[in-house]
Amino acid sequence: SLESPFTPSQQPVADSFVYAFDIDGVLVRGGKAIPEAIQAMKVLNGENEYGIRVPHIFLTNGGGKTEEERCGDLSRQLECDIKPGQFICGHTPMREMAERYNTVLVIGGEGEKCRQVAEGYGFKDVVTPGDIIKHNAATTPFRKLTPKEHADSRERDFDEVVIDAVFVFADSRDWAGDIQIMLDVAMSQGGRLGQRSTTFDQGPPFYFSHNDVVWSAAHEHVRLGMGALRRMFEVTFKDLTGGKGKLHTHAFGKPQVSTFEFASRLMSQWRNTEHGLVAPPETVYFVGDTPESDIRGTNAVNEKAPNDWYSILVKTGVYEDGTEPAYKPRVIVNNVLDAVNHGIQREL
Ligand code: G3P
Ligand code: MG
Repeated sequence: SLESPFTPSQQPVADSFVYAFDIDGVLVRGGKAIPEAIQAMKVLNGENEYGIRVPHIFLTNGGGKTEEERCGDLSRQLECDIKPGQFICGHTPMREMAERYNTVLVIGGEGEKCRQVAEGYGFKDVVTPGDIIKHNAATTPFRKLTPKEHADSRERDFDEVVIDAVFVFADSRDWAGDIQIMLDVAMSQGGRLGQRSTTFDQGPPFYFSHNDVVWSAAHEHVRLGMGALRRMFEVTFKDLTGGKGKLHTHAFGKPQVSTFEFASRLMSQWRNTEHGLVAPPETVYFVGDTPESDIRGTNAVNEKAPNDWYSILVKTGVYEDGTEPAYKPRVIVNNVLDAVNHGIQREL
């Protein structure tokens, strides 16, 4: 590979534009870098014909680990240094909800990871499905806790616990058990598992870190995502309550405009602290693979923002070449390296 003739500190920085990247289906698939992604990062970090560095951030709907841990994984996969100050995952904006609720049920992810993430965000009292199954093993007839899960899960008297909100932080590892527990909470009186509502409109709010029905993993075809879990939960709730119940559900993540606005704030901070830039960028290039999340959200924020949000769709993930994307990007390119070169050619 080409050695940059400059050391990073001497290299000029692009001040008029910035890049934001989706991760799954753009940079990574099934835990491995998409080959062009490694070169794309080098180009952004100054290995281009202008010798210029281009500020960039990452905005994924995925999650399940702390931002620090995710950045460590991504740095290894993409062979460059990626810092939490330039990284947002699906559950990052949930940290702004930590003050609002006392006891929360956190769903998804491996083992105790999401409880740790939630506690790191400042949530005061975090319960997991494991705690509920430990208290009452009959909750999930076909799901037994492993000895490790049993040891990690916390002893609680759920007759005394009031669940104020439910947060689905990451993809469920046990859909049947998790949906069962979510339904029990939704049908309870105000989040008390021991007390069933008769009107089914007294459950706490449910927050999902995103709403992607499918995503791009190692398999040749897309895989079911959190949006599919949400649909199953909502449809089953309706069936069980004869349509008379009421659920309060909300999704964070892309394509929510508030998530892109959150990203915009992180971007100004990152450009400022890392690159000393003060004036906002004229153009934000957003590179994604999912028209319904990435392109829809970028186009929507573009309607409101003072700067130009330029959507780029790649062919390495959810979007299938030759089909008509449900939300139209400004341009469709083969892969993330083409996406980076496209913007640099427009700008320089
Ligand atoms: O679970 C992750 C997935 O739904 C989407 O991740 O990086 O494509 O936004 P990403
Ligand atoms: Mg993606």
